[in-house]
Amino acid sequence: MGDLKFDGTERLTVDYVKGILQPTPTCDIWDQVWNFQAKPDDLLISTYPKAGTTWTQEIVDLIQNEGDVDKSQRAPTHVRFPFIEWIIPSIGFGLEQANTMPSPRTLKTHLPIQLLPPSFLEKNCKIIYVARNPKDNMVSYYHFQRMNKALPAPGTWEEYFESFLTGKVCWGSWYDHVKGWWEAKDQHRILYLFYEDMKKNPKHEFRKLAEFIGRNLDDKVLEKILHHTSFDVMKQNPMANYSSIPTEIMNHSISPFMRKGAVGDWKNHFTVAQNERFDEDYKKKMADTSLTFHFQFQ
Ligand code: PPS
Repeated sequence: MGDLKFDGTERLTVDYVKGILQPTPTCDIWDQVWNFQAKPDDLLISTYPKAGTTWTQEIVDLIQNEGDVDKSQRAPTHVRFPFIEWIIPSIGFGLEQANTMPSPRTLKTHLPIQLLPPSFLEKNCKIIYVARNPKDNMVSYYHFQRMNKALPAPGTWEEYFESFLTGKVCWGSWYDHVKGWWEAKDQHRILYLFYEDMKKNPKHEFRKLAEFIGRNLDDKVLEKILHHTSFDVMKQNPMANYSSIPTEIMNHSISPFMRKGAVGDWKNHFTVAQNERFDEDYKKKMADTSLTFHFQFQ
């Protein structure tokens, strides 16, 4: 297996799986990922990277544990939720974690729908998909690649802007990802949520989540979950802010994992010219879908 020598001093390399960039260790175990055996009571949280995965994981965990914060603090996010295609030597091997975890399991993936191990759909698993507007998603991913040596160095902001638009980033094109899952949602048990809705109307979206996973959520528990999953509280929670990953891999002093948690931060990064180019490209790439995004709050 390639790159098992990764010790955090260098960045992981990347390669392609069926045309989609992935960290090389994932490519090396691809057959195992593809043949992963989901169970009917698995719950899968699926996202394009940086769309609000960790936030959703925390909300779901607290709903499953009826707002019991001690239970949700039993372990860091990446231990509580096996990330099926993720393998970082000495830190985590998602498949192994999933295979040894008692059911019911809640799992994580960033895979585009065409790379999802078929057993998830065959077993009719419940899947929560969260999408985030691509401008904020791009900015968040750029800063994450700066601080995370398990992904390639992003280059300059200008270079990264091009990489994102052309899908030359890990887990591929944002456009194909959100559209692929959007099309799949009508044929499968997929709850499709938006980061911006979760920010704007968390109570409404948290209730939707609870209903989808078959849990009651009384007002007192809901208020407690709202508090514990607010950006400021999660930022201080060592079990939810990725501070448990060694600094040689994730260096929060370069950019914290819990960075801003905002809608519209892209305005602090995009130049006027980049914004125009982005909007033109977006219009073309999104012309064939009913999917729409909010880029800012009015
Ligand atoms: S990952 O690495 O793909 O799992 O990252 P992911 O969790 O999907 O995305 C990280 C971004 O989500 C923000 N975040 C939150 N926003 C609002 N509220 C809460 N509670 C919250 N928790 C995490 C996090 O700050 C990253 O976004 P940016 O824009 O970089 O701040």
